[in-house]
Order: sequence, then C-alpha cells, then structure tokens
Amino acid sequence: MFHIKIINWYLDNYRKLPWRETKDPYKIWLSEVILQQTRIDQGLPYYNKFVAHFPTVYALAKAPEQRVLQLWEGLGYYSRARNLHFAAQYIVNDLNGVFPKNYTELLQLKGVGDYTAAAIASIAYREVVPAIDGNVYRVLSRVFGIKDAYDTGSGKKVFKALALELIDKKQPDNYNQAVMEFGARVCKPKQPLCDTCIFNNSCYALAQKSIASLPYKKGKTKVRKRFFNYFIFLDQAGNTRIEQRTAKGIWQGLYEFPLFETDKKSSIKIITAYLNKAYQTDKVVLYNDKPIIHKLSHQHLYTHFWIVEVSNLSESIAWNTLENYPFPVLIRNFIKKFHPNKN
Ligand code: ADE
Repeated sequence: MFHIKIINWYLDNYRKLPWRETKDPYKIWLSEVILQQTRIDQGLPYYNKFVAHFPTVYALAKAPEQRVLQLWEGLGYYSRARNLHFAAQYIVNDLNGVFPKNYTELLQLKGVGDYTAAAIASIAYREVVPAIDGNVYRVLSRVFGIKDAYDTGSGKKVFKALALELIDKKQPDNYNQAVMEFGARVCKPKQPLCDTCIFNNSCYALAQKSIASLPYKKGKTKVRKRFFNYFIFLDQAGNTRIEQRTAKGIWQGLYEFPLFETDKKSSIKIITAYLNKAYQTDKVVLYNDKPIIHKLSHQHLYTHFWIVEVSNLSESIAWNTLENYPFPVLIRNFIKKFHPNKN
C-alpha cells in the first residue's frame, strides 16, 4: 500500500526540523509560507530567525512591516512576507488571536491558498486533506503514470482525486510530509534515486522510461528580459538617495536606488540625457560594463549601476544608514561591494 510504504520510509528518513517538533499552528504556518518556492536548507535559518523575533502571532502582528521585510531579505517573493504580516494582524484583531481551526477557515487568511491551508490543517490538526505541492505532483505522476497536466484545472482535479484516495486517514500529517519529503529527497526532478527507491518495482515512469517527461506541464513559463539602470547619487558628503517601491509587482515595499528602466541596454548618451532633464549632475560613471543579471522566476533583470556625482542632493540619506532599510538582494549585494568614500 502506497501510504504505508511512504510513511514508513518517512519515519526512517525524515530530517528533524524544528517545525516538525511542534503542533503550534502559528509556527507550522510560518514554516509553510517560508518553504513556498524555497528549499528547506535555505528556509531553515529564516524560520529560526522569525520564531526568535516573533515567537507568537501577537509578536508578528505588532512588528512594523519594514522589520518583517528586513528579516525576509534574501528569501524573495516578498508578497509572502507582507501577506504573513497582514494575516497575523487579522488573526489578532478580528479573530481575537485564535488561530483558524480547519482547512476552510485557514483559506480565509491572506496568502494562504489550497496547498498551505491543507498543509497546516493536516500537520497541526490532523485534518484529512491532501497537501499537493510540486513534489507531490512529481511523485504521483511518476509512480502512478498520471499524464494530465498539473498546471490546468482539469489536471489538478485528477491529482486531487488520486491524492484523496491515497492519503492516510489516521496520519494525514505524516502522510503529506512523507510525500513531499520523498519528492525532495528521492523522486527528485533530475537524477532521481531510482536504484534505491522503495517503488522501483512498480513505478510507471521507471518502467516506461518516462521519468524525464513526468510530471507533464502544459504551459512553459516565458521569461521576460528587463533592463534596469540604477542611479547611485552621491553628494560631496557621500549621501545618497533611495526610493521605496510602492507599485504592485516585484519587490513591493522594498527600497532601491532611483531606477530608470529601458527596453534595451542604454548608452551613456541616453543615460546622461535622461539625468540632465531631471538633475544637475557633475559626473556620471558606469560602475559595471557587464550587466549584472538577476534571475527571478519569470524575469531576468539586466542591471547597470551608474555612479552620479551631484553638488546638491535633496531627500538624501547618509550611506551608512542603508543597513536600516529592506532591499532586494541585487541591491544589497551592490551596497556591500560599493563604498562611496573609497571611490
Ligand atoms: N515542503 C514544504 N513543506 C514541507 C513539509 N511540511 N514537509 C516536507 N517538505 C515540505
């Protein structure tokens, strides 16, 4: 039986992680949101940091958003942090601090979708709901030969129906985590460990040599190329200017240097013309001739930093206060490397 075999594998092999030692729904929620789009080894230090700073939903709700974003720095997909914070305030203010008690109620929280609600409900409350993430699609499609596309509505239904049949009714917590862990450690996207796999005498994909084509996905995500020019304004005292991104989209709420986005790589002529319209500049120097390419899941950012010396800078801040603001990693890396007084 699939559920017994995979739970036994899990109990023998699981990694002892802090969120697996608790039934506190707040901490399980935290771990699941951090682990969306993030590997466990990358997410673990963030989980520890968040639990240390915000041990309860009350502590998280009370924190300023800037602090939450700062602690999230480097994890990406920053809307997860904003939603987490918003939902914590909702739980404290509208639900009297009582954490939602089942799958349906959990779905009401901002940022909590089908997967996360099912993960929390099954792990914290042992509710019998299958949590289906990318690992689960991969394991089920390969072992059972499901060829429906998991990125379509009808395909998702097929997977959900199968997952509901398979789930262990007594241990939905162990079962859901077992399938995810198995997908992450054994039935990996590339070079899965079929030689030692507990399903290798019955796996459809192994028998049919279709490991590489399962799970099947209908749409391939297109990558959008963007060209970012950041202006590092510097006055004589070494002050600079930053701006907060308020628009929806990448990095909402985070800070960055003044940005000029273009549709292709810009020459110094274009940059100077743009700058001279808006600022009195003394000197413009390109910091990196080769673009720094920052890869997000659906966009690649070709980035140039321009050092712009000015005699007068309004709305400026001292360089050494930059550590107090949340920045995208692309910008934080630049700040770490660049020291205005040495240049
Ligand atoms: N990935 C995300 N959440 C997980 C969990 N609870 N167990 C294993 N892998 C996971």
